[in-house]
Amino acid sequence: MSNRLNTPNDLRAFWMPFTANRQFKKEPRLFVGARDMHYTTHDGRQVLDGTAGLWCVNAGHCRPKITEAIREQAGELDYAPAFQLGHPKAFELANRLVDIAPEGMDHVLYTNSGSESVETALKVALAYHRAKGDGSRFRLIGRERGYHGVNFGGISVGGIVANRKMFGTLLTGVDHMPHTHFPDKNAFTRGEPEHGGDIASELQRIITLHDASTIAAVIVEPVAGSTGVLIPPKGYLQKLREICTQHGILLIFDEVITGFGRLGAPFAAQYFDVKPDIITTAKGLTNGVIPMGAVFVTSEIHDAFMNGPEHLIEFFHGYTYSGNPIACAAALGTLDTYREEGLLTRAAELASYWEDGLHSLKDCPNVIDIRNVGLIGAVELASIPGEPTKRAFSAFLKAYEKGLLIRTTGDIIALSPPLIIEKHHIDELFGTLREVLKSNI
Ligand SMILES: Cc1ncc(COP(=O)(O)O)c(C=O)c1O
Repeated sequence: MSNRLNTPNDLRAFWMPFTANRQFKKEPRLFVGARDMHYTTHDGRQVLDGTAGLWCVNAGHCRPKITEAIREQAGELDYAPAFQLGHPKAFELANRLVDIAPEGMDHVLYTNSGSESVETALKVALAYHRAKGDGSRFRLIGRERGYHGVNFGGISVGGIVANRKMFGTLLTGVDHMPHTHFPDKNAFTRGEPEHGGDIASELQRIITLHDASTIAAVIVEPVAGSTGVLIPPKGYLQKLREICTQHGILLIFDEVITGFGRLGAPFAAQYFDVKPDIITTAKGLTNGVIPMGAVFVTSEIHDAFMNGPEHLIEFFHGYTYSGNPIACAAALGTLDTYREEGLLTRAAELASYWEDGLHSLKDCPNVIDIRNVGLIGAVELASIPGEPTKRAFSAFLKAYEKGLLIRTTGDIIALSPPLIIEKHHIDELFGTLREVLKSNI
């Protein structure tokens, strides 16, 4: 417990991300340790992790294989230049990733975050068409309520107003499909909703408006996470795929949340049996331990760049830390852990127990919808009139006091525990949440 002594005495300098800074600094919540399913707080309490950190700690905390891989790599090769040079683990990792990816996703580019994976994917899409001599395809289509990180490309194709409105004109040539959330028809659905799949045909309307020859790519999260867990209605993703194929438009799945086992298959593309052209990932790639992302592309996309004189760089893009040796070691340790413990498919085994526990909250006060897929759940609360987000934030604070970490967005509670979760943790999680929801928030 020596960590407990390490609490800082001045919190002013750090401007915290996506945080109510003034509230936090009056009433700080610090984690000083973590193991498996739990965090340790600065005042020595155990907190059950109901969110895998930020949807990333899929194998649970401080797992020995990952920690050891990082320790060893740091003493052996700390850094290698990422441009015009390489190191073995970057190649080994790419091969291992391709092995678990949907068939045909044969090449990997590395990044350092989900946001960078999105920027990389959008740039690959634009450059791909140009490499094929189809440079008039410059438009990118996103979706209302989509979250694709915080960089300019990502907020441009994203559809969360608070993330966009402060930042000027964003990328030009972007349009948005409608979101897929129909609470009037689908509230309290277990799994994929019955209603709303045909909203995918709105993509056809957008194509008719702009002409397919101007559109490079469509990007969606297969399950929209950060906007409050919107599960795709039945047939929706299949229809998007059909329309994109028909018009030569690339389909990008942003799997930063759904990648690495969250739904019970390695990727959502496999879970829904819909194959995109590009997949973006991060988070679970290294179990959240070291910042790293990966973008998967098909051979068709990759090969379109592989022409011209061999001494020339084929794609002018990359980061100083693309495929950083320590990040690669962490990712390899993570993939070993996933494989040895069957974690990439474990969510499928637990999904119905999880679903039952989650939907048992239906009778709690102010609950207006419950949604789930794989090991993801959401409980939507009625907003306090005139004070949107306050009820869910109170639930977050109460849950934290009671030893449970949940995540909130708007008035929605989002849950996504580490994939090592056991049934007794699930019981504890929903038991605590029930107490919180009944506690006059
Ligand atoms: C679907 C999706 N894309 C991109 C991102 C951005 O990832 P990062 O915060 O690592 O930049 C996130 C983060 O939650 C996400 O959920």
